[in-house]
Amino acid sequence: MKDTREKILQKLLDAESVVYFTGAGISAESGIATFRGAGGIWNKLKPEELANFDAFLRNPDMVWEWYQYRRSVLKDAQPNAAHLAIAQSENIFQNVTVVTQNVDNLHKRAGSTNIYELHGNIERNFCVRCHTYYNLPDVPFENKAPKCECGGLIRPDVVWFGEMLPQEIFSASEDAAMNCDVMFIIGTSAVVYPAARIPGLARRHGAYLIEINIEPTEISYTVDASLMGKAGEILPGLLNDVKSRK
Ligand code: OAD
Repeated sequence: MKDTREKILQKLLDAESVVYFTGAGISAESGIATFRGAGGIWNKLKPEELANFDAFLRNPDMVWEWYQYRRSVLKDAQPNAAHLAIAQSENIFQNVTVVTQNVDNLHKRAGSTNIYELHGNIERNFCVRCHTYYNLPDVPFENKAPKCECGGLIRPDVVWFGEMLPQEIFSASEDAAMNCDVMFIIGTSAVVYPAARIPGLARRHGAYLIEINIEPTEISYTVDASLMGKAGEILPGLLNDVKSRK
């Protein structure tokens, strides 16, 4: 049986270090499509054609077009109540770390200050040949994948299938997981590795795990508390209760 709200509150009141492990579901209420589940991107599009380096080399213009579309959606999107509650919880807990699989930059825009982006950031790009970094406004896209001054193709700075995660960021995330008192697992199907190792690592090192999701996931049976519903509806209320009792 999962823990009661009172037990969850007690764990949060005692916590010094809190890690939020987040996935696409936390941005769903900002109007960003998730990858799996109802309306998921991978139900309609194929990751091997869009999120893969070979696919990029085969058809860079098409991959760029898809990323530009996602960027245009993001330009009109705002951080939602869950992103904001996480950022504001830096006033409740001594150490707050966000470990996210999202590339949408919404945690940063919400005001979180300690963020590990395991899968990169859609607003950055780099040259595949000389590794020069380019921010978004510096790379105009007019139906052709942009090129660097060196002649190399510029790609989004995101992790595609088959690619390594940024090692320093992954190690820092593992450290945060091993040293936190509470880990929230929010809006992730927890099926994409190695990112999905993070909650198990926290659990093995004694952290209390709270999952927030609209449906059960692969790891629901391993967590201490399972809060079923939308992140933007559940998280602010829970953190407000903690704040008012501190
Ligand atoms: P998924 O799309 O796999 O899972 C989204 C999860 O969010 C599901 O479990 C939903 O039930 C849940 N969800 C949807 N709306 C929610 C809401 N309002 N509140 C709470 N939960 C909600 O997304 P990720 O787990 O992030 O990787 O996917 C992991 C990786 O797979 C992504 O980073 C991406 C993708 O392919 C790469 O691009 C490398």
